[in-house]
Amino acid sequence: MRAYKSKMVTPIRLPDREEREANLERAGYNVFNLDSEGVFVDLLTDSGTGTMSESQWAAMLSGDEAYAGSRSFDRLEEAVSDVMGFERIIPAHQGRGAENVLYGALVEDGDYVPNNTHFDTTRAHIANNGAKPVDCPCEGALDDDRPFAGDLDVEAVRRLADEVGAEKIPAVLLTITNNSLAGQPVSVENVRAAREVADELDAAFVIDACRFAENAYFVREREAEFEGESVSAVAREQLSYADALVMSGKKDGLVNVGGFVAIRDDEKFDDLYADARERGILYEGFTTYGGMAGRDLEAMAVGLREAVAESYVADRVGQVQRLGDLLADRGVPVERPTGGHAVYVNAAEFLPEIPDDEFPGQALVCELYREGAVRGVELGSFAFPDTDRPELVRLSLPRRTYGADHLDHVAETFEKVAERRDAGEISGLEIVAEPEMAELRHFSAELRPV
Ligand code: F0G
Repeated sequence: MRAYKSKMVTPIRLPDREEREANLERAGYNVFNLDSEGVFVDLLTDSGTGTMSESQWAAMLSGDEAYAGSRSFDRLEEAVSDVMGFERIIPAHQGRGAENVLYGALVEDGDYVPNNTHFDTTRAHIANNGAKPVDCPCEGALDDDRPFAGDLDVEAVRRLADEVGAEKIPAVLLTITNNSLAGQPVSVENVRAAREVADELDAAFVIDACRFAENAYFVREREAEFEGESVSAVAREQLSYADALVMSGKKDGLVNVGGFVAIRDDEKFDDLYADARERGILYEGFTTYGGMAGRDLEAMAVGLREAVAESYVADRVGQVQRLGDLLADRGVPVERPTGGHAVYVNAAEFLPEIPDDEFPGQALVCELYREGAVRGVELGSFAFPDTDRPELVRLSLPRRTYGADHLDHVAETFEKVAERRDAGEISGLEIVAEPEMAELRHFSAELRPV
């Protein structure tokens, strides 16, 4: 049940079929090219698309816009200390800014960096600094309904160290929840094991904490040791093992923009902190604003506290689970158990007639728009060429934004797509124009029906 009500609303409109067809064609069958005005339920991402509370909006009015020594920065520092247990932070305009600041200071040419699974921007920043990002998810993670399918395979990290040498591994990363692996949570037991392996390798242990509150909720619900604990206590416990955090505030910071790096207040990390601070000033902005306005710092300070409130996070994760159930009940092949921020649909199973080289995931994304002006995102062979990832479509729920009727609309849209599929009316797609960088093609490529 939602423990809030709406006070400010944004009108949305369901365009008629003719308009949807025309929009899709104009967008080159790529939903990144759609105007948001033509989208009825927008599940493209949960990043920066949520709804702020009245307390956040009120705090924004007291934003201190001083270039240096902003009071708003102090308030963010206090919130990070209370909620996440870190005393030193370097603000950044969003998560990838924070990644650039930290990984540029931490990794060198020829290094290897293991992670449970790298998110695209993480992978790109590690690679951009000359290091090799290595995914170490648990084998068959999604096959047997594991409660913590997002865990890091620590033995795979040990094997990597045997192969390349521990001195080549400057950091062990852990992304909670595991966005690239269907938003699956990571147990505190696994966090401790990752800490241990980082110690063995004399590597820094970094947590990508952008969905830390959702992860803490799953831990409380599923890990026996934490039964009956508060989400806020688990949130601090899981982060207490890390040397540094990378945070995109656009997720569990409950803001539309912002992020930061946090570094443990221990003299062992003084040099790293100094290097990262310098990079922060160079790429993001002075140490007390880092690419955010003072009011943005205020909104995130409040948002972090709200993100670990029981009534908020239970409703949030519960809504994602409900969408998963609605689709599963209609026979849509969704990854189970449902993750924390999104439902992942296996498009190759849902549209078995469409061959892999005709982008079944992208075809499904286009059909969801055509039938119901619902926007999801393809995370299969269109977004990740030359990998053998499953043909997934992600439906991410923005925080505190949509209601049960919107979820029903998404489920009904799937029913309509299934009807068209059964009538043999859905075709695959081919690319007609794409940018030079293959890794970024899903943002701008244009396609057409085969
Ligand atoms: N790390 C993870 C695990 C993420 O999911 C994201 C963003 C980032 C880092 C980068 O943060 O967007 O603030 O620069 N994920 C969004 C998504 C874009 O749709 O999953 P950012």
